[in-house]
Amino acid sequence: MSDHLKRLAAEKAAECELRSGMKLGLGTGSTAKHFVDIVGERIRLGEHYLCVPTSEATRKQAESLGVPLTTLDQIGEIDVCVDGTDEFDPALSLIKGGGAAHLREKMVALRSKRMVVIADASKKVARLGAFSLPLEIVPFAHSVTAQAIEKAFAGLGIKGEVRQRVKDGAPVVSDNGNLIYDGVNDGIPDPAALAAKLDGITGLVEHGLFVGLCSAVYLASDAGVAVITPSA
Ligand code: A5P
Repeated sequence: MSDHLKRLAAEKAAECELRSGMKLGLGTGSTAKHFVDIVGERIRLGEHYLCVPTSEATRKQAESLGVPLTTLDQIGEIDVCVDGTDEFDPALSLIKGGGAAHLREKMVALRSKRMVVIADASKKVARLGAFSLPLEIVPFAHSVTAQAIEKAFAGLGIKGEVRQRVKDGAPVVSDNGNLIYDGVNDGIPDPAALAAKLDGITGLVEHGLFVGLCSAVYLASDAGVAVITPSA
């Protein structure tokens, strides 16, 4: 996805979603970064926002732009959360967590009156799963938890393998101190059913399936930005 299209999607989301005085959830990743830039620009122009970042990277970026930050503990509810995604399907179910931030992203999305995604067509799929499913797992007995997740995949007829995420030769550790695994799979026919199974696995802190959370996708292309809403 070109940087130009990421910026275009973020600009359209800002134009349609933002009103001065709102409490915002700030997503994580290379697309959400553009939205954070825009919030910073609007603050410099005199608008007011109070924001909850979904990762340490976003917190640092927002701080550097002078964006006022708070925590979910302090405000409880957010007006709108704007985030990127790794995949979205026609129902606007998402796979998130390519940047290992999906736990905080989901906590913020769940406490937002509205969650919207900014993306381009490379994130649009007929069925979720070409992007491996990010999984945040507590370090204690992590490979046992990974096996339980593989069983959950198999129980739903999904061929899958759960692999620990490694970067530069070292295990990836989330902002919360947990390990990140990825569920390589051959497609997720029923995201809600898989999410329900995964929600029941002790040791799996959070998976990257976002079902029923996204209200709209701002989809940028060379022709402009389309606003996609969930189809049944
Ligand atoms: C962060 O963990 C992810 O959920 C991101 O929102 C997602 O990976 C999209 O990132 P990009 O905008 O960089 O593609």
